[in-house]
Amino acid sequence: ARLVVLASGTGSLLRSLLDATRTDGYPATVVAVGVDRECPAEGHAADEGIPSFRVALRDFEDRTAWDRALTDAVAAHEPDLVVSAGFMKILGSAFLERFAGRIINTHPALLPSFPGAHAVADALAYGVKVTGSTVHLVDGGVDTGPILAQEAVQVLDDDDEDTLHERIKVVERRLLAEMVAAVATRGVVSDGRKAVIPGDRT
Ligand code: GRF
Repeated sequence: ARLVVLASGTGSLLRSLLDATRTDGYPATVVAVGVDRECPAEGHAADEGIPSFRVALRDFEDRTAWDRALTDAVAAHEPDLVVSAGFMKILGSAFLERFAGRIINTHPALLPSFPGAHAVADALAYGVKVTGSTVHLVDGGVDTGPILAQEAVQVLDDDDEDTLHERIKVVERRLLAEMVAAVATRGVVSDGRKAVIPGDRT
């Protein structure tokens, strides 16, 4: 399967997905990387000789124009799946219509708890003892799409946002690679809240 990966941050999730796609037999390859700002993820793509493109909101008169441009930039690479690996923008309606049901996102909390851009800080602030990682299909909401996989991560008493986020990312990296491979090989059927990967044991 052809993957286009979207990123905005340090690109560690992108890095791990690139490593996974290089293991023999992995059923997907990253054909392009898209970012919304200058970030290390562009460098990871360049290291692998993978094309990358930047579609920055500030370069467009409004969010609709930005969404259209991002949709066209991604579509140019004819992806089977789009993977949001720490992409910090809400995808607009043009994008969602074009790639409906084929967009996978990873979120560093056990949704529906702690949606949004500060999930790890919010979990720490709340004082939860367990948080975790969620991989889900993207729908029109913020971190609201049908869930594909979740795994719990303990919160330690001396955790700060960085130590907890790093521990969550260890799980995220594995879960994301697993789910991308599963959807790439078996597809996913989502009806309402349920996302079912045919033949999945869970
Ligand atoms: C990940 O935890 C992702 O879930 C969140 O931002 C982080 C991205 O990390 N949205 P990186 O940029 O891949 O290191």
